Amino acid sequence: MNLEAFLPDYSLFVGDACRVPLVDGCVDAIVTDPPYGRSATIRAESLDHLYAHSFAEMYRVLKSGKIAVVVSEQPVEGFVRDAGFVVAETYLQKVHKSLTRRILVLFKE
Ligand SMILES: C[S@@+](CC[C@H](N)C(=O)[O-])C[C@H]1O[C@@H](n2cnc3c(N)ncnc32)[C@H](O)[C@@H]1O
Repeated sequence: MNLEAFLPDYSLFVGDACRVPLVDGCVDAIVTDPPYGRSATIRAESLDHLYAHSFAEMYRVLKSGKIAVVVSEQPVEGFVRDAGFVVAETYLQKVHKSLTRRILVLFKE
């Protein structure tokens, strides 16, 4: 519904975020909400595996000078820095008593 509302033309594919079938540096922007390790299915060996490999893939496919926005409950700063990103901005969003989301704006130099 969001795509319909905001983009005149789009395509979708379903796949593993740890092995994205795109060439290097072809993506203009990334917005992602990976599993927090609470209830959503983790399609990887572990949450650490998913974060390490998916952030590496995001860095690989993103164009230089562009941004990725990540929503997570987990402190993923170490994973995103290891992937090569600069953490440009951090926001906290209190959802309810036991869930505060972190919203990170990442920059690929
Ligand atoms: C926190 S939920 C995101 C929900 C989404 N923002 C929405 O509003 O429907 C995390 C999602 O990541 C998916 N996921 C888990 N492992 C994945 C992987 N290796 N590759 C791609 N997606 C994966 C889960 O199935 C789940 O749908």
